[in-house]
Amino acid sequence: LQQTEEVEVFSTPSYACQRRTTLDNHNAVLTDALSLLAENAELSGEDGRGVAFRRAAAALKALPLPVTRLTQLGGVPCLGGHSLRVIKDVLESGASPEVEALRRSERFKALKVLTGIFGVGVKTAGRWIGEGILTLRQLRDSGPTLNRAQRAGLRHYDDLNRPVGRAEAAAVAAVVEAAAGSVLPGARVTLIGGFRRGKQTGHDVDFLITHPEEGREAGLMPKLVSWLDSQGFLLYQKTNSNSYLEAAEGPARPASNMDRFERCFSVFKLPEEAGRGGAGAGGEGGPRPWRAVRVDLVVSPVSQFAFALLGWTGSKLFERELRRWAGHEMNMCLSSHALYDHRQSRYLRASSEEEIFAHLGLEYIPPSERNA
Ligand code: CTP
Ligand code: MN
Ligand code: MN
Ligand code: MN
Repeated sequence: LQQTEEVEVFSTPSYACQRRTTLDNHNAVLTDALSLLAENAELSGEDGRGVAFRRAAAALKALPLPVTRLTQLGGVPCLGGHSLRVIKDVLESGASPEVEALRRSERFKALKVLTGIFGVGVKTAGRWIGEGILTLRQLRDSGPTLNRAQRAGLRHYDDLNRPVGRAEAAAVAAVVEAAAGSVLPGARVTLIGGFRRGKQTGHDVDFLITHPEEGREAGLMPKLVSWLDSQGFLLYQKTNSNSYLEAAEGPARPASNMDRFERCFSVFKLPEEAGRGGAGAGGEGGPRPWRAVRVDLVVSPVSQFAFALLGWTGSKLFERELRRWAGHEMNMCLSSHALYDHRQSRYLRASSEEEIFAHLGLEYIPPSERNA
């Protein structure tokens, strides 16, 4: 008699927005490998390949148990030949030669270090590498012209590459709430991004700000920024004004209106309280009294709040999948401002995330299960 081991065959829906993805990832070894390939594709300007690896990783993140054999993946979507080969290698030998080679590659390491500077994108990093700049030391020595964001990024490199914890996020929230309350009484501040999804750390802290009375939020960002600046909380900021206008004939350029709110990319100077990880910031001279933290601020009119909340909670892949679902399956166009139904030729209103999921014909997925 041949002994056969019971192995569960997994299956999961094909869009990430149809799945519940908690932070409890049972396949981290596999998803880390695929995420690294995704990162490399993105850093090489191959966004299509990047998304394919992100989708593959996300499908595995949604599985209830660790995968032990390739045959269990019959019902798992989004796994292309390349991803399957990597998964096979990891399952059989504990590692993928391609991924291990990538980890060691000078070009990949240089791209990570250079794009790790706030304000430095893939193009700039690629150009510098072409000029022989592979490290921060070489960058500082060869002195190419840096813009204001990049100068701040380089100056605060270590702080900005140190994960932000929940206590620090709460401290930033207290500052933003004080600022908003002072310049616009009644303003509401909501923590969004990874922290709203329940992550313990983040690369930044994201906030959405609104006011219950439509229109009162207009022009809020400049006031907020100048309050923060006057109190000494800003090391860097760049503010974009709101450029969103709802057109009667529907969205002109679908999915292109992601960044039309009043928004601000900033670097906060966050005072370090005793006992809140100040030691990590210290060098020879002991703990510094503050650390730099990346903070993103977005202001939305209350009529668009639910869309902004949904659009800025992430994860990035979850957002991308929501928009793909809306377009491909519902003939709708979803943005962080609105949902347009092409069949009915009208905007669908919503005052909660639950209503938006309902409009989209999707089961409601709470933020803690959007960690695709
Ligand atoms: N976002 C966006 N436009 C950008 C950058 C981000 O709409 N130019 C949205 C993303 O889609 C995401 C949210 O803002 O939903 C938060 O983005 P980000 O802070 O980059 O990611 P987090 O999920 O918060 O992860 P982390 O903890 O690393 O900050
Ligand atoms: Mn589990
Ligand atoms: Mn974030
Ligand atoms: Mn952010």
